[in-house]
Amino acid sequence: MKTDGASGSGERSVTRGAAALPRHVAIIMDGNGRWATRRGLPRAFGHRAGAKAVRRVVEAARRRGVGTLTLYAFSADNWRRPAAEVEALMGLFERSLGEQARRCVENGIRLRVIGRRDRLDPALVAAIDAAEARTAGGAAMELRIAVDYSGRGAVLAAIPLLPAGPAPTREALLAALGRAGQGGAPEVDLLVRTGGERRTSDFLLWESAYAELFFSDRLWPDVGAPDLDEALAWYAGRERRFGGLPAPAPATNGDPHEASHAA
Ligand code: IPE
Ligand code: IPE
Ligand code: MG
Repeated sequence: MKTDGASGSGERSVTRGAAALPRHVAIIMDGNGRWATRRGLPRAFGHRAGAKAVRRVVEAARRRGVGTLTLYAFSADNWRRPAAEVEALMGLFERSLGEQARRCVENGIRLRVIGRRDRLDPALVAAIDAAEARTAGGAAMELRIAVDYSGRGAVLAAIPLLPAGPAPTREALLAALGRAGQGGAPEVDLLVRTGGERRTSDFLLWESAYAELFFSDRLWPDVGAPDLDEALAWYAGRERRFGGLPAPAPATNGDPHEASHAA
């Protein structure tokens, strides 16, 4: 279900309400640095507090029944930050992976890291490989962590892996993204960004073509289960049309003409 190729077909029908639970939630976890700075602390403290928020949100998503959760942890452009901050972040990933994998095993979660690996420290790559192997049997949810990730870079990495032929399809590109270790199916249903900015910062561009966008001003280290619930409740009220027309209102006993105009 988690890698259901059909979900990339773009042929979904209009849904309202009943689509209640997004299959794929993606989160741009932003605001760690500001959280720390506001407390007079070094930015690295914000990243550490952010790692705790990851645990809260992963467990809440799993309890709510989300199929795939993709978290933006480090963008390809984040290499532009000062070396000390990059080092702090990479060290934090490496140290938290073992503990995160242990929690994933307990909760039946499969962990995958998407993005480039060739620029990561070999010790971090080894920790990623170990965490992925340890959690490979998880069937309750897939947790994907995006590290050294770029949405544009992902598409560029997938292109050489497209099957030969004159006309690649959207489904083929989604599959190639998966083979390239860059994400792929399923498409994003709900894209959340915390920290107050309203931009995608090169995250899951291809997969978010019809994602519902939820922006929160809360800084990532302050985020927890109630914030996920707020986003899920908002999502449940969206009408997803995929380019179609609004769903007809339910038929009434009255004038059928009236019902057809009710929407
Ligand atoms: C998000 O928080 C974490 C990463 C980008 C690694 P930031 O570090 O971007 O925090 P702000 O946006 O500066 O507050
Ligand atoms: C996006 O946040 C990347 C992650 C959350 C990992 P940034 O803080 O790097 O994004 P910009 O620079 O504000 O667009
Ligand atoms: Mg930021």
